[in-house]
Amino acid sequence: MKTLCNNKVPKVPMLVKEICQELVLSQEALKEVCDRLQEEINKGLGKESNPEATIKCFPTYVRELPNGKEKGRFLALDLGGTNFRVLLIELGDKCTMESRIYAVPQPIMIGPGDGLFDHIAECLASFIKERNLGTELLPLGFTFSFPCKQEGLTKARLARWTKGFKCEGVEGRDVVELLKKAIAKRGDVKIKICAVLNDTTGTLMSCAWKNHNCRVGLIVGTGTNACYMEKIEKVELWDGDLEEPRQDDSHEFLGVIINTEWGAFGDNGCLDFVRTEYDNTIDRESLNPGKQLFEKMISGMYMGEVARQVIVRLVAEGLLFDGKSSDILQEKGSFFTKYISEIESDEDGDFNNCYAILEELGLNNATDADCANVRHVCECVSRRAAYLAGAGVALLLNRINEESVSVAVDGSVYRFHPHFHNLMVEQVSQLIKPGIKFDLMLSEDGSGRGAALVAAVASRTSAMR
Ligand code: GLC
Repeated sequence: MKTLCNNKVPKVPMLVKEICQELVLSQEALKEVCDRLQEEINKGLGKESNPEATIKCFPTYVRELPNGKEKGRFLALDLGGTNFRVLLIELGDKCTMESRIYAVPQPIMIGPGDGLFDHIAECLASFIKERNLGTELLPLGFTFSFPCKQEGLTKARLARWTKGFKCEGVEGRDVVELLKKAIAKRGDVKIKICAVLNDTTGTLMSCAWKNHNCRVGLIVGTGTNACYMEKIEKVELWDGDLEEPRQDDSHEFLGVIINTEWGAFGDNGCLDFVRTEYDNTIDRESLNPGKQLFEKMISGMYMGEVARQVIVRLVAEGLLFDGKSSDILQEKGSFFTKYISEIESDEDGDFNNCYAILEELGLNNATDADCANVRHVCECVSRRAAYLAGAGVALLLNRINEESVSVAVDGSVYRFHPHFHNLMVEQVSQLIKPGIKFDLMLSEDGSGRGAALVAAVASRTSAMR
């Protein structure tokens, strides 16, 4: 029954709090997460330890940040988030962008690799045709947001699929080559692929275009991952030239962007001390069991399901909805991550979004007390995610060890959750070395603009040689 908002928020009972307690991480635990992440990143960067490392720390071959003067027209492809997009970007004093979203049907996401690349090529061809871009040989940046071992700016071997993708015959192959093949097969598209990059790199570059303190790119969206600028001498893995490509004169020599692929943190068991039965179930029932365990505690593809499982347990224990569940609530995946953002966007003491969502789930007899409990579950799940991501960012900032650093952030969870930013700032502040100043900035459209910038910087660098 709905009651009028009277500023009296029902208290969350002890029993409910106790069940949620597992999701509450102490500062000691978060400090330990930070220390373990340090170890795992060191393993990733070490030549001998890398083959066994879970956090692969792939060097991206992006060694130059934009200087704000990049110009030109570029195409970009963006695969790996919720949608597949084709973009046309014009860089100048400002950046203008046109884009179109194309669906990637589920059977393509888990079908043969050729099918996926044919689909991408087809969308690209129709985008080019619609806009009459066929006469120019446009440079293209390909944002491919999966773990890839890069062997150059235009060569990236897929290490493994993550998130909802599992196309056969792609792991171990160069995705640029596969894309070129699919395009050549059609014969109606002329483009020049200048760069392949991860969305984290795009996010960092996009922010660094105007903000020269930016050293970290972070995504908390469907998946989670971070990249950062590392000094080349710390990257034993680096097999490129130590000097080249050099920065232009206006820049110091900065190193190389490392795509950490921190989503895989914990795949060797080192996060078991903070994982719960809910995390185990989600992992067991996923497309990639045993893989991406950090990601499964943090990102949008999984957060809603963590919340759903806790809610289902509270119902089973008679602590919610009078012990009565609904068919929809019992279905895996039915509690979307966006519900968490919506429920936490309700003003204190007001449960409008919460009631609407519970009704969508077929729970029509909820009370204010139920809503307060559901909200508490959501808060525990999102706080845990934000604190874990915050611990990760603090570690990267401590490694970079510069006085003032900006972190570029994108992804649906960070963007739409009403408190994620503040929770992250709170946690980074707890674990960062004294004296380091930081800010977390929303980076607009890193996958598109970032792809254009990597392509632009790449062509500048090669022109300088
Ligand atoms: C997954 C991918 C990673 C990507 C992240 C965010 O973790 O493996 O490459 O950056 O999702 O989209």
